Amino acid sequence: MGQQAENILEFRNIYKAYPGVQALNNVSFSLRPGEVHALVGENGAGKSTLIKTCSGAIYPDAGTITIAGEDFAWLTPKLSRQKGIAVIYQEFDLVNELSAAENIFLGKAIRKGWIIDRKAMNERSRELFRQLDIRIDPDVLVRDLTVGFQQMVEIAKALSEETKILIMDEPSAPLTNQEIEAMFGVVRRLKESGVAIVYISHRLDEIFQISDRVSVMRDGELLATMDTAGTDREQIVKLMVGRELKETFPEKAAKTGDEDVLLELDHVTGNGLKDISLSIKRGEILGLGGLIGAGRTELAQLLFGVEPIKEGRIVYKGQEIHPKSPEKSIRMGIALVPEDRKQQGVLLHMSIRDNISMPMLKALSKISVIQGRQENDLVERFKSSLRIKTPNIHQIANNLSGGNQQKVVLAKWLANDPEIIIFDEPTRGIDVGAKQEIYGLMDELVKAGKTLIMISSEMEELIGMSDRIVVLCEGRITGELRREEFDQEAILKLASMN
Ligand SMILES: Nc1ncnc2c1ncn2[C@@H]1O[C@H](COP(=O)(O)OP(=O)(O)OP(=O)(O)O)[C@@H](O)[C@H]1O
Ligand SMILES: [Mg+2]
Repeated sequence: MGQQAENILEFRNIYKAYPGVQALNNVSFSLRPGEVHALVGENGAGKSTLIKTCSGAIYPDAGTITIAGEDFAWLTPKLSRQKGIAVIYQEFDLVNELSAAENIFLGKAIRKGWIIDRKAMNERSRELFRQLDIRIDPDVLVRDLTVGFQQMVEIAKALSEETKILIMDEPSAPLTNQEIEAMFGVVRRLKESGVAIVYISHRLDEIFQISDRVSVMRDGELLATMDTAGTDREQIVKLMVGRELKETFPEKAAKTGDEDVLLELDHVTGNGLKDISLSIKRGEILGLGGLIGAGRTELAQLLFGVEPIKEGRIVYKGQEIHPKSPEKSIRMGIALVPEDRKQQGVLLHMSIRDNISMPMLKALSKISVIQGRQENDLVERFKSSLRIKTPNIHQIANNLSGGNQQKVVLAKWLANDPEIIIFDEPTRGIDVGAKQEIYGLMDELVKAGKTLIMISSEMEELIGMSDRIVVLCEGRITGELRREEFDQEAILKLASMN
């Protein structure tokens, strides 16, 4: 009995296999009331699969899930909900065209007889927001909220009177540092009210800020559960990747400063940007810093031809260009690795192979036949160099873990052999080991003469990887720093200047 009273949720000896993968291999995991239990592991380790077994999204092959002393061999989504479990998935699940309140009550509308009681739903939403100490108007459309507030709506939606267990699968991935702080505030308040929380993240610093215990998964197994206070980053990383991992950035070759200018923006205005003048030199990594909404993604869209410029000139290799469409940009050797993999990155129903080779095929459409073998070889090469975890390249992308989908997006653009690559948040959702590999890959690209533009909200990454950092704020450039001037404080100051 003792154990049952102690744990609100317990997984015992859980197994789940997919064709070619043992996603869960004899996993045991427990959650105590009022604790924040972090779950970490490399991309494809089995974290999301484990939580899907208790949300009822999938059935385990074997094992027992105990919720508040009651044993289950499997759950349905409805049963899981009734037992007080709520899950916030890796990808947002909100309807942009509906209001905050409508999203919170989607599928469980409060009714007065036959009629949907909007007033009651708005009131209840307001009440939820008040409990979470966040200010959102229940009537506001979700598409008008920032990503940070959308996440808050997700949390409010997951909560109801009966929620005892909240599972958050990489909730911080799309958020800015400030938004993460706000979310942590909400998590702490929930914890105080007795809610038990499973917190999945690839950002290990967060684990130390928010969790009481941490469990590490690798290759479908749960290797260890530790008190967070009794462990450190090094130990966790070693367990995760199964070897010592040096978390360092590649050595930078000194730039002489007189490399050719490859791309130049001359008083460019459009897509929310104002009077941007900027030159990018061949072989450098230009970092773009700034807060979310500063205009960095908008700048990438202009360069890639997603949106037209209104005023000014873009000069590429000494000639004025007019990027009108992504296809044209690809043909000119410009690539964009987007931040939002679900919407712009991978085609989920297509195979890994077709995802990776598709833009290349388009760009090379002049050549009528591409040898299937060559294509396979190329895709295999990316699979191993990026360590895309999958039994084979013919799997559909939807079956990959979140981080591995991100790697497919990367491979897809690299396969095209572009000259300039714009990386928008290249390591979001990517595990520590693969992160190092992506940094190594960027370094190799630069050594091979490629030019990179990197948008990153991770300060360490921005400082570690860039040769030069340009900071934007509200659509304007507020400053530029050379390597010897790099400094976190200075960047933050420029980012919030207005
Ligand atoms: N529906 C599916 N069909 C086939 N394989 C699957 C399916 N779902 C998951 N897998 C495989 O199971 C393994 C575990 O995936 P899971 O999504 O649990 O990883 P994860 O730890 O959440 O990774 P990430 O950090 O990248 O989100 C992976 O190898 C994945 O490819
Ligand atoms: Mg996952």
